[in-house]
Parts: sequence; C-alpha cells; structure tokens
Amino acid sequence: MSIDLQDIQGNIVKGYAQYDYPKARYVFYHIRNEVAGRAFVKGIAPLVTTGIPWNKKAKPNAADAPPPATTNIAFTYMGLKMLGVPRKSLQTFPEEFVMGMKLRKDILGDDGPSDPRHWDRIWRDTSVHLWISINGRDPASIETRYQEISHLVAESDGGIIQLSGHHGPDGSTDLPYQSASLIYKNGIPQAREHFGYRDGIGEPYFMASSGHPNRVIGGGKPTRGDPATRKGWEPLETGEFILGHRDEAFETPIAPQPPLLAFNGTFMVYRKLHENVGSFNRYLDTVGENYPGGKELLAAKFSGRWRSSGAPVTRFPTNATAETFEFQLNEAEARLYAERENPSKEAKEAYVALRTQMAAFDYNHDLEGSRCPLGAHIRRINPRGALEHGKEAFNTPGALTNRRRILRRGLPYGEVADDSRDDGDHGIIFIAINASISRQFEFVQQQWINYGNDFKLANDKDPLTGNHGVDSNQQPTGRMILQGNSTATENPFFCAGIPRFVETRGGDYFFIPSLTALHMLSNGTVDPT
Ligand code: HEM
Repeated sequence: MSIDLQDIQGNIVKGYAQYDYPKARYVFYHIRNEVAGRAFVKGIAPLVTTGIPWNKKAKPNAADAPPPATTNIAFTYMGLKMLGVPRKSLQTFPEEFVMGMKLRKDILGDDGPSDPRHWDRIWRDTSVHLWISINGRDPASIETRYQEISHLVAESDGGIIQLSGHHGPDGSTDLPYQSASLIYKNGIPQAREHFGYRDGIGEPYFMASSGHPNRVIGGGKPTRGDPATRKGWEPLETGEFILGHRDEAFETPIAPQPPLLAFNGTFMVYRKLHENVGSFNRYLDTVGENYPGGKELLAAKFSGRWRSSGAPVTRFPTNATAETFEFQLNEAEARLYAERENPSKEAKEAYVALRTQMAAFDYNHDLEGSRCPLGAHIRRINPRGALEHGKEAFNTPGALTNRRRILRRGLPYGEVADDSRDDGDHGIIFIAINASISRQFEFVQQQWINYGNDFKLANDKDPLTGNHGVDSNQQPTGRMILQGNSTATENPFFCAGIPRFVETRGGDYFFIPSLTALHMLSNGTVDPT
C-alpha cells in the first residue's frame, strides 16, 4: 500500500524529536478577515514540511534534505469558518471538533485546577484560529523561520493577528508563543519528561510509517504470535491516523466533505499539561518508604516503565533485571552518540535490538497485573490485547485497542527550578494525532485515564495523569492497587491519597489539512456541492 507522502504534512508521519529536532515553537493566530486569511495560508503553504522521507546525506537544498526548521499548520473550527469554508462543508465536521476542547471539559475531566477558568489566557476565549509549529535543530533556525512567518503577518495589514497570552517562567502571562524543548543534561537532549521518566518510546506503527520495520514490534497490533518477534504484530491500518484511507474497521473513516478536503488530512489535539513535580516527588518518597520494592519500583508501577531506562516493568520486573538492561542501553546510546556523524552498522544494530526489547511485550503472561499493574499509565492507554486475552469471544486480539491508538507529537516545556515545589511553568505540550478525536483521544482520556471500569478497577484513575480529586478535608483521594500474584508470593499493595500530578493549562482541537486541501483553503475552492 502506498500513500502520497508529499501531500501529507510531515508532523503526522514523523515525530521530529526523533529526527534530531529537539526544540519547537508553537504560534497561534487569529484571522480577522477571509481575504487576509487566505493570503496568509497561501504564503505559508510553500514553507510547509511534508511527509517525504529525509535523506541525511542529501545536499542542503535538495528536496529530501532535512530542513533546518520544519513548519506545519492546522486550523480550529472557527479558523475554517473565518477562511470562508462553505457552511455545507462546515456542517460535516465532527461535533467535538466544532465544540472545541473547552466545551468538552466534562468529557475530558478538566475540573478543579484543570478547569478552563485557570487556563493560560490565550485559551480562555475562542480567538485561536490557526496553529503553526516550527521545530528546529537549534533556536536560530526556529527564529529565522518565525521571522519569515511574522513578515507574512505584517503584510496582512491587521488581517492576521498573532495571539499572545501564554504563561511562562517567573509569572509571565503574556508570552507571544509557546516554547517547548527536550530536557537537556550536560548539553545533550534527553527523551525525558519532568517527572524523570524516559518518554517517546511507545509509538503506533501503521502502514505508512517510516523508520525501521522492527518498529512494528509493540507499535503495531497484536496477533497472538510471539510478541518478541515481528510475527507477533501487524501494522495498524493507515486510516486510524490519516483520513481517506482504510481503518481498523476496514472502512474509510467518516470524514468532512468534500472528500478532497479531508483526504490525507487528520485531526490534532493540542494540550498544555502542567506537572506538579513537588507533589509527585513527595508522594514517591513517602509511599516508596513503605513499599517493599522501594521508590523506583513504585514509580515504574505507576507508569508501566522504569523511569531511567524506559524498560517495561512487565518484562523487567525487578530492580536487578532493569539495571542490567539500563547498563546495556546506556552503552549502546553512548556509542551511537559518539558515532553520530557516521554511525557504524554494529552500533545501529545494537541500539535497535535494545530498543526493540523495550517494545516487545504484551500482557498475556501478566494478566493478573502482578508485574505491570492493571492501572499503570501505559497499560491503561495501550492494553496490547490484554482486554481480550483469555476471552474466547474474541478471535481478534486488540479488537478493543486497535481503534484507540494515538500518535504523540508533543515535547516538554519549561524548566523545573525547584523539584520540591508544584508552581512554575513546566510540563508537557501534549500533541495527539488521530483520525477521530472522540473515538481515539477523548475515549482514552475519559474511559481509560479518568475511569477504570474496563480494567475492573471501578472508578480508580490513571495514577500519573488522572484528575484525582480531594475530600471534604481537602485531602487527595486518588487510589491505585498494585496487584499481587495468585500464588501469594507477592501481596497486593494499596496506594491511597494520590494527589493530582497533572493539570490542564489550555489547548484546543485542530484539523491538519493535506497540502492539496491547504491550496483549496487558500484559493477558496472548497466546494461541497
Ligand atoms: C503530563 C502528562 C503525561 C505524562 C507525564 C506521561 C508519561 C508517559 C510515560 C512516562 C510514558 C512511557 C514512555 C513511552 O512509551 O513513551 C507514556 C506513554 C504513553 N502515553 Fe503518556 N503521559 C502523559 C500524558 C498522556 C496523555 C494525556 C495521554 C493520552 C490521552 C498519553 C498517552 C500515552 C501513550 C499513547 C503512550 C504510549 C503507550 C504505548 O503505546 O505503550 N499520555 N506516557
């Protein structure tokens, strides 16, 4: 199966951070009139980064050379309306996209400190129409691209307004854009987030995915073959992530009209998630003291992966097994970094083998959750067939999961000045890409993060990202069970009083058009008749 990667925006098929773009700038605009809006989109279109595979060895200006900075563009419902998309077409967009993130707060669990009243100022009204992301190798490349775009804004003579109102460090509340970056240690960018977990590991592998074919292991859909080999997995259908292509129901996904507007486009969720690092560290320190496996195992049980290496706890269940794996991984990464200009085949293969081990698992031998708890973050979000294993009614493992997968494209933001405190401006700019926001992202957020019934966990929430509440004495009420095993050599452990570790600070839903659709939008030729 082939798809036209030249017609698809690059951020859909590539996680730029994995291609050595550690930094990003997200800029939001308001369209004041249709003519200026279209002219602006026309000006941006030639700058847009497509999905074509990059060749690191290509000459700098070649079409397949990785650019110094990437550029991608997406629209809110109001943005499409302001561009003059005909009403007949607008009426075919999905309800959640039309409503926007703020009005979906009850579904998303954005209550208490996550209520839209507390969001960054830019997100408190409905003025965001257009999102542009610039990912770069270095701040200078990002700035150069930003200046080019700002020039187009200036040319619009007030027809396009760049919106400020992002909160930032030192109490600032009116920043002109949202910056994001991998976290650096000793000058080297790390795939980590502010709670200290290694991030950017689990990634759906679908028909049009680029990258090493071993990525299907753990990234694809389970087949009940050996999960440690490619036989255990098949690529997901492209239509789960890109409109106009066959999806996991073997149908072309429901899409806005006319078909050409939607074809090769998709939907995006942008969410600024603050991390309460002080509360997280205090909880781990206090509860970890009484937990037989200690603090690090407790952290691993929360996420389903060890913090330092990202090794899955279901496959590496003890501190000793995890430490051996971490040692090997550090060695392989150090070698790859040392050889980064021209890595040897051996260095690449050693790394790919370890990386594959991080993904090569399911929960078939851990159905009771004694290794990876049923409520761990990655097990909730991608149960890898665990909801169907052992149930004869299902001859398709993953039937319940394959339609809930999402591509993650965000980066951390801000810096933690004091890891004993919750305040400050730091967290994750969470970006999810999926063909259906309600079926994929919203379902996961509502049913699997903020509720536990599918895992027989009643209303327990995801320990890391759930919207844990407080009781009448303002004491946190989050709970999690770390299951024991049926032979009772390991007892269950109950975590109570879990506070809310993650709070929403803003965001919205966007439509990412194909390059063809971008031209239709800029020329005003969207014709739904
Ligand atoms: C600040 C908030 C969050 C933190 C700290 C966090 C942390 C993590 C960590 C440590 C991992 C394991 C590393 C990896 O596989 O890349 C992970 C995986 C993942 N997270 Fe989150 N996460 C957050 C929010 C969310 C949200 C809101 C969603 C979806 C609604 C989500 C979806 C996922 C998915 C899909 C995976 C990969 C699972 C897999 O396929 O194995 N995360 N996250």
